[in-house]
Amino acid sequence: MAPIDPHSFTDSTHPLTTHVSLSLYLSFPTSTIHASALLTLSSPFSGTLSLDSRSLSLSSILDPQTLHPLPHSLSPTPDPIRGTEISVVLSGQSQILLIYSTSPAASALQWLSPPQTFSKTHPYVYTQCQAIHARSIFPCQDTPARRIRYDVVMNIPASLSAVMSARHVRRRLPLPEEATHLDSSLCWCAEDRVVEEFVMEQPIPPYLFAFAVGELGFREVGPRTRVYAESADVEVLDAAEVEFAGAEEMIRQGEKLFGEYDWERFDLLVLPPSFPYGGMENPRMVFLTPTVIKGDASGGQVVAHELAHSWTGNLITNVNNEHFWLNEGFTTYAERRIVEVVQGADIATLNMGIGWRGLKDEMERFKDNLECTKLKNNQQGVDPDDVYSQVPYEKGFQFVLRIERQVGRTAFDEFLKKYIATFKFKSIDTDTFLDFLKANIPGIEKEINLELWTEGVGIPEDAYEPVSTIYTKIISLAEEFKQGKMPSEDEVAEWKGQEWELYLENLPKSCEPSQVIALDKRYRLAESKDYEVKVSFLQVAISSKCREYHGEVEKTLKTVGRMKYLRPLFNALAQSGGTEEKQLAKQVFAEARETYHPIAQGVVESILSKYI
Ligand code: BES
Ligand code: ZN
Repeated sequence: MAPIDPHSFTDSTHPLTTHVSLSLYLSFPTSTIHASALLTLSSPFSGTLSLDSRSLSLSSILDPQTLHPLPHSLSPTPDPIRGTEISVVLSGQSQILLIYSTSPAASALQWLSPPQTFSKTHPYVYTQCQAIHARSIFPCQDTPARRIRYDVVMNIPASLSAVMSARHVRRRLPLPEEATHLDSSLCWCAEDRVVEEFVMEQPIPPYLFAFAVGELGFREVGPRTRVYAESADVEVLDAAEVEFAGAEEMIRQGEKLFGEYDWERFDLLVLPPSFPYGGMENPRMVFLTPTVIKGDASGGQVVAHELAHSWTGNLITNVNNEHFWLNEGFTTYAERRIVEVVQGADIATLNMGIGWRGLKDEMERFKDNLECTKLKNNQQGVDPDDVYSQVPYEKGFQFVLRIERQVGRTAFDEFLKKYIATFKFKSIDTDTFLDFLKANIPGIEKEINLELWTEGVGIPEDAYEPVSTIYTKIISLAEEFKQGKMPSEDEVAEWKGQEWELYLENLPKSCEPSQVIALDKRYRLAESKDYEVKVSFLQVAISSKCREYHGEVEKTLKTVGRMKYLRPLFNALAQSGGTEEKQLAKQVFAEARETYHPIAQGVVESILSKYI
């Protein structure tokens, strides 16, 4: 066994899967997908091939040429992080056909019943495969070290439509001959079913596999961009149309900076509020939380970030999660370059400042687990969802910025373009990047301590704390809060969400309750429609034991499932030391749990089990 990824059973000596053909029958009443997966290997293989899977019910594995069963076994107990290893014995085949069903608890899938949707009349399902959840939808070599092309035939209720991180081929009636893998109790060709076909011609790591099925509608916002959302949610569609009108301009800027946009379409899907992330860079179809739509610059920031992944992450991919900073650090840098052009340098600096604060907080969070403060870190036996943090984003950003500042923008821009052109559609590790850096910027290792940056703990001294008048002003106002001073109406007159977020995040962790209440009375922060502001405020309120906000905390935790909000609120409650707070955390989770995506359920569970 020669593993290439601590989160996968994939063996480096085995041939890679180059193509997957999926036939998916979505059963909403049972939250199950009845499926077949035809895997094609890069070469014929004799021996035992390892595949990743998680909570799949496997009914058979066949040689697709002969339809004879292939000998196989499953690891006796699932690994808590990697899931179940499927070992298939091959004797010269280069294709494998697996017939299986997914579990209603599949970690990548959230099934929403009609009452959980906006329309309340149709069900909805969507995926989130990063970091290691694709294996709960189809058996695969679920590592970003491997890339696959795929095609999908998806059988869904005719009242719904499907979107994917792939090219839509057609919507048509189901054909009887397609139903071979289905149990006879399920009717592939029933009158109320349709088939949607998709094909992904560009090779992608499995974590970028994505779909959503629901009653969807869309608006055209640019020559290669539509925004999709639940069709009944006209308000979100209207708002998204305005919010994301600048997408094409961003793509053009991205192309200027990083080279041609390789994915043809850049569509956006606004998901229900339970979507666990701000955004997910699924190729051709970025997934977004509805909380980004608030009519200011921050929605654009998330889109800029997911767009930037089209080059850094989706074209050049980290070989495994230990090198995640190659995806997120570069993307955060690229995002800020795009924001700088389309929204201005002040907003880019403000974002940098929020990031800097976040990075400092993470150093505090990981003071007893310094491994997590390294860019390249050891994740043997570590669940990537448990160690998700700002470190790969913000320390990674700082490292990229450090190089830019050393060589100057013009030279660095040229370097970036060459880096992307050289490694596109490849998966690389930190050393590969460093070798390329040293080869293309000779002597760089004498100017920057590359080893300290990539392998050292903490924040290197030559990191760059952003400076701008507005940033410095906000930090000093936050400092003054400790002395009992509140910012005046004049001082905050121009503030939007990001200014407030920076201010609130720089307040002391625990403040005088009367002062917190006074601040809210004046500026109505707990009721802000901007979740970044609301959650930053509620965090301060919880840590300061202002219990009058518990109602608002509960409401928030029951409305949104974005982990960026769940994590700090549940953490603040669990770590506050108060019995009432702990009780609230337990009660709210018990009541809201079912409305969260399985990944978010797991993350909240691990917070509560650590502190309660
Ligand atoms: N790829 C990430 C989301 C992700 C990371 C999902 C790890 C699963 C595992 C995405 O690009 C991202 O970083 N989203 C951010 C957006 C923000 C930085 C603008 C988020 O969700 O907050
Ligand atoms: Zn990202």
